[in-house]
Amino acid sequence: MLVARAVSQSATDPLSGLQVTDAPVPDPPPGWALVRVVSSSLNMHDLWTLRGVGHPADQLPRTLGCDAAGYGPDGSRVVVYPVIASPDRGFGDETLDPQRALLSERHDGAFAEYLVVPERNLVPLPNELSFDEAACLPVAWGTAYRMLFTQANVRAGDRVLVQGAGGGVASAAIKLALAAGATVYATSRSPEKLAVAETWGARGIASGGRLPEKVDVVVETVGEATWSHSLKCLRPGGTVVIAGATSGVNPPADLGRVFYQQQRILGSTGCTLIEMQRMLRMVIATGVRPVIDHTLPLSEIHKGFQLMIDGDITGKVVIHPNPEGETA
Ligand SMILES: NC(=O)c1ccc[n+]([C@@H]2O[C@H](COP(=O)([O-])OP(=O)(O)OC[C@H]3O[C@@H](n4cnc5c(N)ncnc54)[C@H](OP(=O)(O)O)[C@@H]3O)[C@@H](O)[C@H]2O)c1
Repeated sequence: MLVARAVSQSATDPLSGLQVTDAPVPDPPPGWALVRVVSSSLNMHDLWTLRGVGHPADQLPRTLGCDAAGYGPDGSRVVVYPVIASPDRGFGDETLDPQRALLSERHDGAFAEYLVVPERNLVPLPNELSFDEAACLPVAWGTAYRMLFTQANVRAGDRVLVQGAGGGVASAAIKLALAAGATVYATSRSPEKLAVAETWGARGIASGGRLPEKVDVVVETVGEATWSHSLKCLRPGGTVVIAGATSGVNPPADLGRVFYQQQRILGSTGCTLIEMQRMLRMVIATGVRPVIDHTLPLSEIHKGFQLMIDGDITGKVVIHPNPEGETA
């Protein structure tokens, strides 16, 4: 079968370590299931692995890909919960398991025609969702769902600022917050991406621009480039929830503002299996859907990564490991 894997890491030339090659179909160990992958999607996490961030070199080569939708061993449609972890070790929350691993970290990932995952990670795929749509949801939408509704407790009528409208997590956060009845402001460096976010119902603001009012919640995945703007836009007592730092991890802390304005800063990572199931039900109940910027066969995955490196996408890049396979 065809796979896309990381064979080496480079901060400056990450695609030099991305190899598309043949590999044997994996054999599931006891308690694990073989999934025929129909659709996967790119995440920044794949690029971090190729850049050598957060992924030890001794874990190479490693098939990349954190998101998968396809067929389970009994032929039923499934979408894969991407965190391999124990709820027991995480005090009931698998994202708090110190030994948790996102798919592609310690186990081969979803840029492959076949994938093995623990049986508990198979989630029935509702008929309302296509494989392509489902493959955009677990990492980006699961992360956004937990940020908004578990961590920041967003409710109808809240004012939410989402930094970096074009991102996979950011576009999910915009759509989910709108679907929950929030007023959503979205920033982007790109006027085109702002225009797209406005078609979803968000109010577009150029990156770093002034908002007409303070917000209750800021959704951060950009990091250094937007952090000080995030703190300035927050009302006293408001919450910044942060799940990523694409532009850098060490902005000035602005501690005076944090304590004087009694701001709450909450980290967030991934989602639990239950949160992913709730997110899927919300997507179906509200009719919101992920934004697919590009769909590419696995053989052209380098092109998808380049679009991501150039910041040239709105939403997600979907990958088809088997271009002949069905995608409906
Ligand atoms: N903790 C978790 O569980 C988790 C899960 C998923 C992702 N993440 C992290 O979250 C981040 C986003 O992931 P993603 O997959 O959504 O990535 P993505 O789709 O590539 O989005 C990247 C985002 O960064 C913004 N951006 C990049 N450089 C910027 C800069 N210099 N100034 C302003 N904005 C900038 C872009 O906004 P515009 O182009 O619109 O300006 C875009 O929103 C990554 O760091 C990723 O590792 C974490």
